Amino acid sequence: MKTPPLSFEQIRGNIRIPQNKRSISITDDEAAALYNFLISHNWKGKRTVEIGFAYGYSAAIIAGTTGALHTVIDPFQKKYGNMGIRNMKALGLWKNTTLIAGYSHWALPLLLKKKRVFDFAFIDGGHLFDGIFLDFYYLEKLLSPGGFLLFHDASLPQTRMVLGWIASNRPDFRFLQVSQPNLCIVQRISNDKRPWWDYHHFNLYGLSRFNKLKQLIRRIIGKI
Ligand SMILES: C[S@@+](CC[C@H](N)C(=O)[O-])C[C@H]1O[C@@H](n2cnc3c(N)ncnc32)[C@H](O)[C@@H]1O
Repeated sequence: MKTPPLSFEQIRGNIRIPQNKRSISITDDEAAALYNFLISHNWKGKRTVEIGFAYGYSAAIIAGTTGALHTVIDPFQKKYGNMGIRNMKALGLWKNTTLIAGYSHWALPLLLKKKRVFDFAFIDGGHLFDGIFLDFYYLEKLLSPGGFLLFHDASLPQTRMVLGWIASNRPDFRFLQVSQPNLCIVQRISNDKRPWWDYHHFNLYGLSRFNKLKQLIRRIIGKI
């Protein structure tokens, strides 16, 4: 395990998010799971990309853990009072961050055209089914062999449909266990060898019984 440039407490303690907007960002538990995932995985590379910047919590976790260059894509940073940028500056991470101020559907094809490659990608931008699918469509083409792709809001039906399609149609990806029910990680394990006519029916990606129970309790009492 490597020593990351910033501790989890340093990041959490310095991120400012308006109290009434807290639900926009990943939770502290999800941030901790992401932090632990990034420090415990044996990285071959360190190139990271993320869709959905907002207040910069997940960006700070990713950049603060790897200490490497991080690319974030989001057209609406001004609507967040540039607080994502300010949080990254406060943590000394802004110099290593590139913000592409645009929609992912135009930023990702440009990155692909520039032959950029990433080892880790986080999807937390637009939350419509077609947007999530499109983000996956491009990000997997930008992903290095063995690279990881993390989905937020993995319990939303639209995300689970995208995950269900991957589970049934993309044998070149494997699903990894994550402790947080709202996160899902897939890893590229081989090349895409599908013939042009390939298609397999798919369903909502299943939750484990434990996660289903946890989500039910969460819905009833509000939080875990
Ligand atoms: C849930 S927030 C992201 C929170 C952030 N990942 C965190 O945990 O700190 C979703 C973000 O996606 C951005 N967004 C919405 N549609 C987008 C799109 N089509 N392309 C890129 N970003 C988008 C919004 O501006 C917003 O900042």
